[in-house]
Amino acid sequence: MKNTILSIRNLHKVYKGQEHEVVALNKVSFDLNEGEILAIMGTSGSGKSTLLNIIGALDEPNQGEIVLQNKKQKDIFTEPEATLYRSQNIGFIFQAYHLLKDLTVEENIALPLILKGTKRDEISNKVDNMLRIVGLKEWRNHRPFQLSGGQQQRVAIGRALITSPPIVLADEPTGNLDFNTSTDILKVLKDMKDQFNQSIIIVTHDPYVATFADRVMFFHDGHIVDELICQQDEKDMDRILSKFRKIMEYSK
Ligand SMILES: Nc1ncnc2c1ncn2[C@@H]1O[C@H](COP(=O)(O)OP(=O)(O)OP(=O)(O)O)[C@@H](O)[C@H]1O
Ligand SMILES: [Mg+2]
Repeated sequence: MKNTILSIRNLHKVYKGQEHEVVALNKVSFDLNEGEILAIMGTSGSGKSTLLNIIGALDEPNQGEIVLQNKKQKDIFTEPEATLYRSQNIGFIFQAYHLLKDLTVEENIALPLILKGTKRDEISNKVDNMLRIVGLKEWRNHRPFQLSGGQQQRVAIGRALITSPPIVLADEPTGNLDFNTSTDILKVLKDMKDQFNQSIIIVTHDPYVATFADRVMFFHDGHIVDELICQQDEKDMDRILSKFRKIMEYSK
């Protein structure tokens, strides 16, 4: 029996422009299981980033509910609750790594713990462990500009996961990386998930990235229009591609 960690209920988001409105999310509902990797694919502008931003309390919906670990999340879209909610529950990984350029690798990874007021010894142990997992022990004193894109993304993953958040939100995490580096990043994410049982939502345009997921949801025009449970065999790629092609037809 799988446990639901996150329930999204009727999430609705309208952006009001000067000329017209855009319905970015149209009453979206779904459940995310504990330890599940969920990939979200879809047409450009279909609301994928908006969804992640709302789950991460970076953006506010017009309607709908977020239920996390059976608790309805109220007031998470205003400060200081938003920051607290994020620091306790959410790890973000973006396409652009958003590292702090003046901090070293280990300082970047340690940052969420420092902000939480974690004790020095505990920070040191956790950061050592994380540097080992993301394979950056020898790079700990380097600064972001001295690293490759894949290494920078590994720092970002280390920083996102150092507080062991139950939910990890990744928006095109391999968007800037080549095939081998993407594979490497996805394996790191999967290894960590196996170790800490996190639930991960990955937005991607790349069917190969989606093969790392347990389930793929397809978005178009603010709706979930299709879904696929991965069988974890070599035919997943074809299954994903076939559904993805259908979705892409919608936007023509
Ligand atoms: N801050 C904003 N103000 C106004 N409109 C917005 C804003 N953010 C997103 N939108 C609109 O909402 C819709 C959904 O955008 P969103 O960024 O969620 O799409 P997406 O699925 O992530 O697309 P992509 O694959 O191109 O990243 C789009 O039509 C977009 O133009
Ligand atoms: Mg997007």
